[in-house]
Amino acid sequence: LAGAKLIMVVNREPYIHLHQKERIHWIRPAGGLTTALDPVMQACGALWVAHGSGDADQEVSDAKGRIGVPPDDPRYTLKRIWLTLNEEKGYYYGFANSSLWPLCHQVYSRPTFDPDHWDIYRRVNHKFAESILEEVGNEPALVFVQDYHFALLPKILKDARPDLVVAQFWHIPWPSPEVFRVCPWYQEIIEGMLGNDLLAFHIQNHCNNFLDTVDRTLECRLDWEHFSVLRNGHTTRVRPHPISVDPTLSEEYLDQDWQIRARQFRDKYQLGDRKLIVGVDRLDYTKGIPERLRAVDRLLMTHPEWVENFHFVQIAAPSRTLLDAYQSLTQEVQTLVDEINLRYGSSHWQPVLFLNEHLGPEDVAVLYRMSEGCVVSSLHDGMNLVAKEFVCARSDEQGVLVLSEFTGAARELTDAIIVNPYDVSQLSDGMHSILTMPAAEQSKRMKKMRAEVQDKNIYRWAGMLLSEALKLVESTPSEN
Ligand code: G6P
Repeated sequence: LAGAKLIMVVNREPYIHLHQKERIHWIRPAGGLTTALDPVMQACGALWVAHGSGDADQEVSDAKGRIGVPPDDPRYTLKRIWLTLNEEKGYYYGFANSSLWPLCHQVYSRPTFDPDHWDIYRRVNHKFAESILEEVGNEPALVFVQDYHFALLPKILKDARPDLVVAQFWHIPWPSPEVFRVCPWYQEIIEGMLGNDLLAFHIQNHCNNFLDTVDRTLECRLDWEHFSVLRNGHTTRVRPHPISVDPTLSEEYLDQDWQIRARQFRDKYQLGDRKLIVGVDRLDYTKGIPERLRAVDRLLMTHPEWVENFHFVQIAAPSRTLLDAYQSLTQEVQTLVDEINLRYGSSHWQPVLFLNEHLGPEDVAVLYRMSEGCVVSSLHDGMNLVAKEFVCARSDEQGVLVLSEFTGAARELTDAIIVNPYDVSQLSDGMHSILTMPAAEQSKRMKKMRAEVQDKNIYRWAGMLLSEALKLVESTPSEN
């Protein structure tokens, strides 16, 4: 980093402290982003700035909101920023997750745009900027901003300190200009993002959509050959950098006693020795969970030989539960599960095991390993790290991945069974293949997918992005 401080800015903190039974304990949140970035931060130290969201966070952090993490073996510093309830509602539940999230995922229901949410979103972006600038002091620094919670932050930082290197990774898709321009404040959002020296998305298609949106929105020079935008003497490079996972972690999680833990799980939920298909998601309307359940229904209808002979295990971590859209999804999913279990189940067998809870990565790895396959049926997803985590857990080179064509991961994991999740028959045929694919074919596909993830891992992602950010700035001093 050539002596520059590295500051990672992420809305979600990697470790959350909570009160439980008169004790303070810590958990890791659900969601691929923090899981993916934590090992990188452990490897390079640096500072992670995030919203402090646990009910005991303030008690364990110092006066500046700082704490060494992981809490049991500190390797880097987490700086927590405290938000009021009103700020959390307007910025996180409001503009980030009721406007930008559905807008960028092109969900077929209207995003809501509330001027109060927008106002708070702006103010929270300024609040983070103040705190980051205080941390930076007069030193050179590279600020690496994550995701759609901070569209305005890059410009605020650059306006205050033009010499800072600012890079942003947008973890969710970027839609076409027609879609994005329904947001009443699209212009300010784009200007905010053009504060970056480097702006990265998972895939080229999202970069193209972003550049198209800029092209139709602002007076600027667009260089399609180098995928960059020149505006007011500042250049923003727009690049695809598909994120990944740490492939060595599954090995750690699958220690000598993983089979004992697998047995305990089977016994706890009366799964016997039946075949398992798994789904692991945050309970989010972009993940295609109802579609997946309808496919289980269809599989049992069209292939009655599977009745009493397999279970579909859906882990659904509660997410953004204050929002109506997430509450009604929980109800819809629970109703579908009950209907399927009633239709096909008996006193000693229930086809669907639905666990509406967050499972730690150690338990998820065991579940991946003990299953016949995993279904990822997102209706639209920037990358989807579940797909990659599943592959990492299969050092036995067995297991089948059914993967939605609308994920970034489908571009890399081409040896998965790629399906359109809107087509219930493709999804249920995919599940049938999970249960019937010969071992040799599984191994052929799994080997290729594992090689892909081992090669393009999270360290390579972080290394390439950070070195590109530094190189770009060094090579174009006159433009900054
Ligand atoms: C997605 C977003 C991340 C977010 C994660 C979990 O992966 O891109 O920024 O952290 O979902 O969602 P949450 O709202 O709980 O942080």
